[in-house]
Amino acid sequence: MTAIDWMAVAETFSQQARFCAASPSSVAILQGCAAALAGPHVLRDILIEAHDLTRAAAVPLRVLGAVHRVALDGRAPELAQLLPSCGGIANASRVWAATEDVLKTETRFIASYLARAPQTNEVGRSAALLGGFLTIATETKLPLRLLEIGASAGLNLSWDRYRVTTPSFVWGTPESGVDLPCDCTGAAPPLNAGVNVIERTGCDLAPIDLASTEDRRRMESYIWADQVDRLDRMRAAVATARRLGVLVDRADARDWLARKLAIPAPGAATVIFHSIMWQYLLPDTATAIDRAIRAAGERATSDAPIAWLAMEPPGRDPGMPELALTLWPGGERRALAHAHFHGAWVKWAN
Ligand SMILES: C[S@@+](CC[C@H](N)C(=O)[O-])C[C@H]1O[C@@H](n2cnc3c(N)ncnc32)[C@H](O)[C@@H]1O
Repeated sequence: MTAIDWMAVAETFSQQARFCAASPSSVAILQGCAAALAGPHVLRDILIEAHDLTRAAAVPLRVLGAVHRVALDGRAPELAQLLPSCGGIANASRVWAATEDVLKTETRFIASYLARAPQTNEVGRSAALLGGFLTIATETKLPLRLLEIGASAGLNLSWDRYRVTTPSFVWGTPESGVDLPCDCTGAAPPLNAGVNVIERTGCDLAPIDLASTEDRRRMESYIWADQVDRLDRMRAAVATARRLGVLVDRADARDWLARKLAIPAPGAATVIFHSIMWQYLLPDTATAIDRAIRAAGERATSDAPIAWLAMEPPGRDPGMPELALTLWPGGERRALAHAHFHGAWVKWAN
């Protein structure tokens, strides 16, 4: 067995702490972990069992999620009383001591929790995707058939049931349990589009099963403990998706899309959409999906148009995501907006 470079592992925790600056409790836990790894510590015993300690495995986020999960499950009352997500009062200065106790008492649970990669579904992205859907509905004047690839739990498939509140407009109904505040600038999307979603389905390699308490709680555990608003809106979106019966198939996007695009859908606009997933595709898969969508686009008619809506960082650049729409017949790609990763702001192109 090769020796573990604990200083390098500690550095991944320190780096993640810098990325989590918006969450003081996460910073405290991650910095505590980084310091603990300098010598013998229960955290080392836990991490020795992890198969992959490289940066790509995002082990610090796995540890953060595991510790949060114990608190959410009610098995760490002292830690929970310091975490807003668990009804506690934020107190970052005491979080690490309480976390260390959790690492000692829940060693086995935490070690096993690390085996799965963090899995999230950011419903705030619907605030940006909204503009693309409204543009498609306006331009095609047809009902929408939604096909989402890399859908995770499928929460963005219910975008039309959410309310988006911006400084210049509000879209959606007051009854919506999911309110997405968004700092929008630039020309607003066509807000008066008539929207009628007739199908909403998605696929994911590792879908979150909303009927499973375990899956729902796991998804919540990866939200930072200070982000109560995010947690609340995820829970409200989960309730909406379960009411609508949204289904996400366990499938590779390449195979799933090939099957879906083989089914003709006259009288509807078929919308293939995805957010923050393209970077995870193998190059061959990305090429195959690109080709399949373009081939379907070439077959499109005004009665059966094809739309490709993507919210992704441009190229391999880690910069802010771009919202791009390609609509066939025609097939011209348009950059509609730039957006914050979680939809906190959207800059619409003028
Ligand atoms: C960062 S998550 C984004 C999830 C969701 N689109 C969102 O915006 O919240 C990326 C998702 O892509 C999925 N994924 C990666 N490669 C895939 C593939 N080849 N086919 C289907 N899903 C894939 C992952 O399982 C993961 O759920």
